[in-house]
Amino acid sequence: MTIRTINDLSDVRGKYILLRDDFNVQIIDGKIMDAFRIEQSMPTIRKLKDMGARTAIAAHLGRPDGADAKYSLAPIAEYMKIPLVPDCLSKDFMADMKDGDVVLLENVRFHAGEEENCPEFAKELARGFDVYVNDAFAVSHRAHASLVGVTKFLPSYAGELMAKEISELTRVMENPTRPLLGLISGAKIKSKIGVIKAFGKLCDKIILAGGIGTGVLAAMGAKNLAMTADNLEKYDDEVVHEIMTEFGDKIILPLEKGVGAEWSKETKRTDKMMADILPTDVPMDEGPASVAEFNRAIDDAKTIIWNGTVGMAEWAPTWSVGTFAIVRHIAQRTRDGELESIVGGGDTIAAVEAVGAINDVTYASTGGGAFLEFIEGKTLPGIAALEK
Ligand code: 3PG
Repeated sequence: MTIRTINDLSDVRGKYILLRDDFNVQIIDGKIMDAFRIEQSMPTIRKLKDMGARTAIAAHLGRPDGADAKYSLAPIAEYMKIPLVPDCLSKDFMADMKDGDVVLLENVRFHAGEEENCPEFAKELARGFDVYVNDAFAVSHRAHASLVGVTKFLPSYAGELMAKEISELTRVMENPTRPLLGLISGAKIKSKIGVIKAFGKLCDKIILAGGIGTGVLAAMGAKNLAMTADNLEKYDDEVVHEIMTEFGDKIILPLEKGVGAEWSKETKRTDKMMADILPTDVPMDEGPASVAEFNRAIDDAKTIIWNGTVGMAEWAPTWSVGTFAIVRHIAQRTRDGELESIVGGGDTIAAVEAVGAINDVTYASTGGGAFLEFIEGKTLPGIAALEK
């Protein structure tokens, strides 16, 4: 795969750069809850600024149906202290730009042409620019106009974050220090079947935790868990059997859960071994025996790839216990030089940040769905469009 990066750009002083970033972050009451993706995008922005380019950033937020103030990028422009251009197709701002200036274009998803990858929309978005830079790894699994369509109209390059994501994830997939442990968790198994199968081939051991672990145990015959698993998702027993037949000897499953009487942050927590869980119990975290088992597997590993918190980590302190204990253990092993840790997915990164361990893991990816698709070995359209 050959991709030109911004390091291949020469003399962009005074040139107009269309930069695609992923600023799809959680915003509540106008406040950015987690700026990880924005901060990770800053090196490329600073570099273009230092090179004297005139940069307009295209980005999306949420999945709006047409223009909708709720999905405005205004809080992000404010956070970054740069002007917001009220329509991504507007060109009025260009004449006033000076070398090194940076502006943010309003949400590209306010136009239907973005998600439809409409060529006319892509052409209009690209109009007036000299160069396109894609630094939005986290949305590059979408074949949208600002990721794919624009590359037909402009010389295209990867930004620093994009290049780093590709090289770090490729390195760990192609040449991991073994034993390699995969930790996959989350409420629902369906969206992660592909990645579980890919991990089955790639990893030496795989932990399936959270709702996925519960679902697997239910599918394997644990009748007391059937209702819980069904409440999360009507899953396909056959797929689970297929996975267990092929990779069962590698798979580590939950032993104990923190359960409550209802799906709520406030409900009282009790830790129960899997066999003791009642059909009416609601598991919302891994219990101490699971955490000990998972941490033992982490001790045996030289590399871990992790996606998905093992419980409702955002419902701290009651329901974050399991996830935070695992984060601390991974951070400690990494600090000790015993483990290489690769972490991806919004919730997982938020949990690592909540524990203050973001600088202790080896690599934290900005990707959620893109991270999963990349390690599944899929071609990401936004990356393929940059290939020469
Ligand atoms: C993400 O947050 O994973 C990306 O920005 C993609 O967002 P989407 O799932 O709405 O396309």
